[in-house]
Amino acid sequence: MILRNMPSSTSQRLRGTITRLELMTAAPEMTTWRPINGTMLLLKLYHSVFVLLYNFMDQAYALSLTKLISYNNVISLRIRLRPRILRDVSINDTRTSVLGMEISFPVGIAPTGFHCLAWHEGELATARATETVNTCYIASTYSTCSVEEIAAAAPNGYRWFQLYLYRDRKLSEQIVSRVEALGYKALVLTVDVPYTGKRRNDIRNQFKLPPHLMVKNFEGMFQEQAGSQEEYGIPANTLDPSISWKDVYWLQSLTRLPIIIKGILTKEDAELAIEHGVQGIIVSNHGGRQLDGVPATIDCLPEIVDAVQGRVEVYMDGGIRTGNDVLKAIALGAKCVFIGRPAIWGLAYKGEEGVREILQILHDEFRLSMALSGCRNVAEINRNLIQFSRL
Ligand SMILES: Cc1cc2nc3c(=O)[nH]c(=O)nc-3n(C[C@H](O)[C@H](O)[C@H](O)COP(=O)(O)O)c2cc1C
Repeated sequence: MILRNMPSSTSQRLRGTITRLELMTAAPEMTTWRPINGTMLLLKLYHSVFVLLYNFMDQAYALSLTKLISYNNVISLRIRLRPRILRDVSINDTRTSVLGMEISFPVGIAPTGFHCLAWHEGELATARATETVNTCYIASTYSTCSVEEIAAAAPNGYRWFQLYLYRDRKLSEQIVSRVEALGYKALVLTVDVPYTGKRRNDIRNQFKLPPHLMVKNFEGMFQEQAGSQEEYGIPANTLDPSISWKDVYWLQSLTRLPIIIKGILTKEDAELAIEHGVQGIIVSNHGGRQLDGVPATIDCLPEIVDAVQGRVEVYMDGGIRTGNDVLKAIALGAKCVFIGRPAIWGLAYKGEEGVREILQILHDEFRLSMALSGCRNVAEINRNLIQFSRL
């Protein structure tokens, strides 16, 4: 957990909240419910809704929390650090850049949908927090606030937009021209969802967006058809499973924005991405929510970095929970990492302030890990720092 070894009262509160949430949802059958009165009934109702949301947010590999935990621990258990000593680390500079833009440290926010499920201000709070911390926020297509509202909430924030391709290409075309006009700085094309993975938690809970929320970017764009199936707030089968490399050229023909491909796990696809003229690659397995049985992203990172040879920037997401995790990913060649679930936990805890605190905790831990391993700035972090354990 990010909050490991953090003595401050804030992180204790945050950790306490998360532990309570985990206990409530991981073992709901352990809670004794006595429907004495209306309040208890309300609490019970709240509990069921909460379990549904938590299951949606936290599921991985379409399986269980236990698996998610072992997946995340790959970074801390198997990858060890070889610290250097006596290097005057009295000053540590955590700044870096992505696509030429300076950010305060190499951690940004990965695209995740439906932030209004976690906090009433949703993506507006996330955007403001990342603007304050001066890092990169990748806004999801599945946002519960529109790209216009997000841009207005944090006018000086550094933002990319995450995109899917739809059978109806006009939908994709429209959203691309909107985000370009609004000053979003890159398009992140998510390529690991030709179909939605089998998310058993959501199937069991019959997950549906509550009626007061919607995928705001497509408000009014879909005709209501009687009896039509819905999937995560939009009609089922809207995504285009025929998406292929030629669509990257199509996207380039629409926009001047840099294109980053999210969801690459092999050196072969990294090579193809470069051949097709993309400006960046996010090594990602969608937080374990798509294909079951793929490797942890930290295990894919070295082969991709080696294949890319610095021709484009390589980023990574998945399982980043501590500043040490950040250090290890950067040492293995990621230019920046992105966090998905931890940002949602912060949001659920205290909105904008919670996301800011999560980023601040990661920042402070990263700076400390840098110093303790003898790195004065991000450029000094390299593969010599890494030792793979046989665990
Ligand atoms: C609740 C949730 C919603 C997500 N929504 C999206 C999305 O809309 N678009 C996308 O490209 N990835 C989405 N992802 C994947 C994240 O961008 C990211 O790859 C993953 O969460 C990183 O792993 P982490 O949660 O361990 O940090 C989502 C992940 C979660 C947990």
